[in-house]
Amino acid sequence: MNINFVENLDLEGKSVFLRLDLNVPLNEKGEISDFTRIERSLPTIKHILKFTNKIVIASHLGRPKGKPDPKYSLEVVGAKLTELLNVEVAFVDDYVKAPIDQLLTRLGKNRIILLENLRFYAQETENSTEFAMKLAKGIDFFVNDAFGAMHRAHASVAALAERFPKERKAMGFLVREEIRALDQIRDHAQTPFSIVIGGSKVSDKVTVLLNLINTCNNIVVGGAMAYAFLKQMGKPVGRSLCEPNTERMVQSILANAQARKVSIYLPEDHVCAKSLDDSKGKMFESIPDDYMALDIGPRTIERYKNIIGASKTIFWNGPLGVFEKPAFRRGTIAIAEKIAETDCFSVAGGGDSIAAINLAGLAKKFGHISTGGGASLEYLEGKTLPGLRALMNG
Ligand code: 3PG
Repeated sequence: MNINFVENLDLEGKSVFLRLDLNVPLNEKGEISDFTRIERSLPTIKHILKFTNKIVIASHLGRPKGKPDPKYSLEVVGAKLTELLNVEVAFVDDYVKAPIDQLLTRLGKNRIILLENLRFYAQETENSTEFAMKLAKGIDFFVNDAFGAMHRAHASVAALAERFPKERKAMGFLVREEIRALDQIRDHAQTPFSIVIGGSKVSDKVTVLLNLINTCNNIVVGGAMAYAFLKQMGKPVGRSLCEPNTERMVQSILANAQARKVSIYLPEDHVCAKSLDDSKGKMFESIPDDYMALDIGPRTIERYKNIIGASKTIFWNGPLGVFEKPAFRRGTIAIAEKIAETDCFSVAGGGDSIAAINLAGLAKKFGHISTGGGASLEYLEGKTLPGLRALMNG
């Protein structure tokens, strides 16, 4: 990919705008419940710190509606960065009133800047050039390490990068790592290549499946997605969650898979319950009318494990059952364990799959865990992400 890498920039004493994806999950008390995105941003911050402390870090958090909302403040992330980096992170909450060039001239030693949530300004999501110009004031270099936001044509990702000539902008360590891993899945997958796909919506995954059908051998389906397939095949799905109006999508996946000789595997037994509050569930091969299927059953688990065990490349996105409920997470955990123990190149993406991997303590056993949900899917669909395009141009 024709994009500069941060290590190739001469950053000595220069000012750097660093776009990160610090969109971390927060619990009801407003505490960070998973530090992955912060930790995976550290190599780039530490690299830049070797040459300059004039760093302006910026990110979005959640989806505030274009105006300040304390629920989505990045202040708590600033405190964590201070702790992890051993530098003082000066938190700036009104950088439109306090222009960035002035902040930089006043910046003391051993201090860096973290801007408040970019999405507190509607101009961010509008990809406003005027807003990008404000962010660029007094900045020598632009570095983007926000892989999870690369699919958003937002001001800090697209318009701001476009303002810099090619030799003054670059991707960071995380973006490079993500692209390398996803390229291996998209363009150089060793066969047998199996896709394990779950989650609730066929519509979110149809394009990625249609693209990867060209190179994969097996598609292993779980989660509520599976019931849309089973329903289409005339099998009973009872009261299982089933995304409406997916007939054409399912048909097109099935037809393309058949044409390419790709095998599609669907659950053949199910853990079912009448309510999500059921603490055990019941096993059925055919889902009764008054039950919902909430996890894959033991026979399906064994079958899926065999396919995974024989694969050289695996891409996994989406849980295979209602993973948040202990009674319905057995399938997801069993699949995570099998992928982890298989000698293959494995990539996992999507918040719930990652939560399952972390819960099972298996993160280190995966080839790559993508920090981008939507971004990794769009990349695998074959799209040029706006944030990457903006780093190439100029
Ligand atoms: C993500 O969580 O996938 C990224 O941070 C992007 O967030 P968004 O979907 O709100 O743009």
